[in-house]
Amino acid sequence: MRKRTIVILPGDGIGKTVLNETLRVLEKAGFNAEYVEGDIGWEFWKKEGNPLPDRTIKLLEKHGIGLFGAITSKPKDEAAEELSPRLRDKEYVYSSPIVGLRQHFNLDICIRPCRTYKGNPLNFIRKGPGGKIEEPVIDVVIFRQNTEGLYGGVEWSNPPEIVHEALKSHPKFMKNFSRVPREELSVSTRIFTKNATERILRHAFEYAKKYGYKSVTVCEKPNVIRETSGMMYKMAKEMWQREYPDIELWNTNIDAQMMWLTKNPEDYGVIVAGNMFGDIVSDGFAGLIGGLGFACSANIGEKVAVFEPTHGSAPKYADFNTPIVNPIAMIESACMMLDHLEEHKIAGKIRQAIAEVIEEGKVRTYDMLKLSGKPDVIDKGAASTCQMTDAILKKLQTP
Ligand code: NAI
Ligand code: MG
Repeated sequence: MRKRTIVILPGDGIGKTVLNETLRVLEKAGFNAEYVEGDIGWEFWKKEGNPLPDRTIKLLEKHGIGLFGAITSKPKDEAAEELSPRLRDKEYVYSSPIVGLRQHFNLDICIRPCRTYKGNPLNFIRKGPGGKIEEPVIDVVIFRQNTEGLYGGVEWSNPPEIVHEALKSHPKFMKNFSRVPREELSVSTRIFTKNATERILRHAFEYAKKYGYKSVTVCEKPNVIRETSGMMYKMAKEMWQREYPDIELWNTNIDAQMMWLTKNPEDYGVIVAGNMFGDIVSDGFAGLIGGLGFACSANIGEKVAVFEPTHGSAPKYADFNTPIVNPIAMIESACMMLDHLEEHKIAGKIRQAIAEVIEEGKVRTYDMLKLSGKPDVIDKGAASTCQMTDAILKKLQTP
């Protein structure tokens, strides 16, 4: 196995904690890598007025793979107040470094798997016929377009005259909004490009083919949002007919999908959606498999890929003497990195170790015990972050 260089981006709060634990797991599992640390997050905003320093961008440019913990973001006023005094009133503007990374490297493919671990007390259960309790096994992988759509940032309040004029060229705008004063209008655009839509669809179909999923579901709203959602579904149909006839193509509306989420989540395989609907549907499925302590993700571009848990820096828990948060979401994100690097065997070994620990049920972090996150959870029988990692390491040891 060749030695890899991985840029680790611990960031803030519990991001640092869970990333450290993950490195222990990677080492034990036999992943041959050297780690270089990239500066990112609140500390660098305060000291340098930039939470994503250029040197960090350069490191990722050079090595191509990032393993990211989490960062802290705060509202505009607080951000300004916490800047080092010598930087204040110098027009530094805070913006989220993870969003910055996604944009800078065009990490347009976001993958969020949601899989049930047997024995996880947080698994979704429902009542079936005759009141029988059912625990469906969920194995869903969401492909979310990561750079365009409603999160693309092309928006205005009190839009400039030229934008207003352009809007007025649309008959529906004329009918419904033309009498509203310009300063009372807020507009957020939802732009889809053919190129990015093609890429996210392609990745979704290829993934389904590679890993044997029987269906790809386009989860949008083409009957109402006819241009963007409509384009995505039309392109999916063409791609499917042309190249993936052995996979089933399904089409669901985001609202109905959220309702079906609890009715038949086990029926879905690969799901593909635009930026916002992908965000919504992936949080929905994550809730069925244990929530933030289990939700992992990958952000993939043509040259750079960054892997991260979906949770944030959970500042409330960051300074506990004994960290209590669940490291599994971060460890799973590292498994996604291993798959991306074609180190499937090591990824499989780690996932198997996690599965065994969860199924055995002896070691559970506070979230798995449904406790409120306070330092006393350890006395109440919860495993610490470190103990959970130790349990996984122990499983990796035994052949
Ligand atoms: P959060 O994800 O940090 O925490 C929300 C709650 O989820 C926590 O209070 C905790 O109860 C639970 N939680 C999170 N991670 C967990 C884990 N590994 N194990 C067990 N429980 C866990 O979201 P919140 O509180 O909205 O944001 C806190 C900070 O994180 C903010 O500054 C926010 O901007 C930032 N953030 C950063 C993200 C990133 O780096 N990608 C994503 C989301 C939020
Ligand atoms: Mg989200």
